[in-house]
Amino acid sequence: MRLTGATRVAAVIGRPIRHSLSPVLLNAAFEVAGCDWVFVAFAPAEGDARAAIDALRGLDLGGLSVTMPFKDEVAGLVDRLSPDAAALAAVNCVAWDDGQVVGHNTDGAGFLDSLRLDAGWDPAGKACVVLGGGGAARAVVRALARAGAGEVAVVNRTAAKAEVAAALAGDAGRVGAEADLTAADLVVNATSIGLGATDVDGPLPLDPDRLRAGQVVVDVVYQASPLQHDASLPPPARNWTPLLCAAAARGATPVDGLGMLIHQAGHAFELWTGQAAPIDAMRAAANGLRAG
Ligand code: ATR
Repeated sequence: MRLTGATRVAAVIGRPIRHSLSPVLLNAAFEVAGCDWVFVAFAPAEGDARAAIDALRGLDLGGLSVTMPFKDEVAGLVDRLSPDAAALAAVNCVAWDDGQVVGHNTDGAGFLDSLRLDAGWDPAGKACVVLGGGGAARAVVRALARAGAGEVAVVNRTAAKAEVAAALAGDAGRVGAEADLTAADLVVNATSIGLGATDVDGPLPLDPDRLRAGQVVVDVVYQASPLQHDASLPPPARNWTPLLCAAAARGATPVDGLGMLIHQAGHAFELWTGQAAPIDAMRAAANGLRAG
């Protein structure tokens, strides 16, 4: 990478941020696409996302990715919100548009790309269960409904948050229960259970015996620490969460959260540069890092 006087700077803000894959994904994308851009990571003080938005404006940064715990706060700091960001009241990407600072939310689009493009699976007309009621769950619920899912049942420890999430799916949404898992075509874990597990017997967000062949099971939290489920498998499989290991053992199709992470970053790349994202290069960069 050769930096010049014209190099544009984009950044991710989050806390903690040191283990973020975003710099790996986006610097690979800029390089392969021939963009004179560089991507770095910052950790503003909690509650001080304004410092990053001020820097974006004051230094004319190219764009920002936004992750925990700043997604909600940034929604209140931009000039305008995209329809997805407005519906979710959360921003994961900030881009310039005609001199305005616009807050976007590309998590739902990234999730759908991962399902459709990586797993070759379309949710239209399908019965879906989403576990969780936080920001990730809300983005997934809205995306599934907009993609024409037949039903989106939300199962969450805190019922009030399940209701708020289910409402994002309109007529297709409802609060569900674990019993809904058996009939589901798609099961999505959007809770943080299993994140950071160090062996395949780690905690599960559901009773694994409710999973079956023919289902697609997605874990939106990506597993940064390999479980070594099967060392002969390529890196994505080795990086399954306990849930994905359990799903595979029961004949279901596991889809890990790395695809969603890559595709949401791809949408950010497109919003910033106006160019198509080199998804394969981004995936290769992520897998190269994780294989080590
Ligand atoms: P994010 O914005 O990334 O989705 P979050 O808002 O902290 O993160 O949401 C985490 C989700 O995991 C929540 O749905 C949470 O359940 P509650 O809404 O009841 O808090 C869920 N979660 C985390 N730990 C859990 C646990 N031990 N058991 C059940 N649900 C859990």
